[in-house]
Amino acid sequence: MKKTIKFPEDFLWGGAVSANQCEGAYDEDGKGLSVQDVLPRGIKGEATPEPTRDNLKLEAIDFYHHYKEDIALFAEMGFKVFRTSVAWTRIYPRGDEQEPNEKGLAFYDAVFDECLKYGIEPMVTISHYEMPLYLSKKYDGWKSREMIGYYERFVRTIFERYKNKVKYWLTFNEINTILRHPFNSAGIYTSFEKLSEQELYQAVHHELVASALAVKIGHELMPEAKIGCMILSMPMYPLTPAPEDVIAAMEEEHKNDFFGDVHVRGEYPGYIKRYFREHGIQIQFAPEDEEILKNTVDFVSFSYYVSACASADESIVPGEGNMIGGVTNPYLKSSQWGWQIDPLGLRHVLNRFYDRYQLPLFIVENGLGAEDQLTETLQGEKTVEDDYRIDYLRDHIRQVYEALQDGVPVMGYTAWGCIDLVSASTAEMRKRYGFIYVDRDDTGAGTFARYKKKSFFWYKELIRTNGSIGL
Ligand code: BG6
Repeated sequence: MKKTIKFPEDFLWGGAVSANQCEGAYDEDGKGLSVQDVLPRGIKGEATPEPTRDNLKLEAIDFYHHYKEDIALFAEMGFKVFRTSVAWTRIYPRGDEQEPNEKGLAFYDAVFDECLKYGIEPMVTISHYEMPLYLSKKYDGWKSREMIGYYERFVRTIFERYKNKVKYWLTFNEINTILRHPFNSAGIYTSFEKLSEQELYQAVHHELVASALAVKIGHELMPEAKIGCMILSMPMYPLTPAPEDVIAAMEEEHKNDFFGDVHVRGEYPGYIKRYFREHGIQIQFAPEDEEILKNTVDFVSFSYYVSACASADESIVPGEGNMIGGVTNPYLKSSQWGWQIDPLGLRHVLNRFYDRYQLPLFIVENGLGAEDQLTETLQGEKTVEDDYRIDYLRDHIRQVYEALQDGVPVMGYTAWGCIDLVSASTAEMRKRYGFIYVDRDDTGAGTFARYKKKSFFWYKELIRTNGSIGL
């Protein structure tokens, strides 16, 4: 029998982007440089001393000047929520100024007003891989405790300014990626190879304290707001049923669970204390830190792209899925970029997080990065026949529905890169996620014109019928 699918009436359908991957205008209206402005080859590439012309993020898709047109297209699809980040360097160009940059604040007023005009709830990632380069160079990013004060200043400023416009806030994008990409994720200028685990986990501590402080301040200033953490989720399956592989998978999961556990439970879990003991790591806690960490989040949000396997056999070489690796799963197919596709993993992770946290969950990123071919419809309109993207999204959203049936409270789903943008890991334009095609290529050529893909109409129908058509 065919099931009739209906999502909860208040389910928040939408899309997500980050400031640095879509806005462009990297030096306009007083904006300072961020770490992304010097990463022309993406997360895995080297940082350049200054911005270079081949860095596509400097102009990105020019959302800075196209936001009205883009938000109108999101509204046409029926978005209930639009997730973006506030570029720290538009508000505090170096990060240590006493006063914010009014032009930067005004830009986000305009963006949020435009969303609200259509009844779209803005959701803000406070920090999405966008630390001011000045702070990164001067303090080595989150390695230094001083960062907490600068982040607090930024957070207070944007909470005060947007408290009547923004209800949903996320403290740090994929906070757990600091373990692999400390410059991109946490502005740590010292190269990964030279960084000790002691320094890395001390930086993690600073971010966790800053995140809890943001929750505290947010709750004081905006009692109605919902403030969440944002984790890169990646289910780790044991490669075989050997108990050693099961334990290896558990330990891999723990490396990431640590971040969610502190955000939800307000203290360090036993397994990480053990890891610290056994690796000679001693985290410096300031006297107030224990109390600050008790400011726990209202919901847990996460990105989901891939799952991976773990093995106790050290001779098995990990693959390169998303940002955090893992052993390749022989049962799954991969995207053009080698990311393993696993819709069932999304149901798994939703259940696992809810079992663990008993808090509402929000999928704030999911999607397929693929090369698109621009074609023309019979009516002569430019479009992309992206059935592969529709298949990917449909398969994943079906599993969100299954998790809802399991009793997991899912608040919403924001498809990543709802409009094409510059990829984070490789800084390419040809790795596209959008429902909306943007005319720009990897050489930087293009008109920035926007075209609706086939998936645009599919997602619109899915939202209109709240899931009953399209799945
Ligand atoms: C997430 C990041 O890890 O993955 C996004 O939060 C990123 O910023 C997304 O764009 C997809 O990754 P990529 O490398 O395909 O852009």
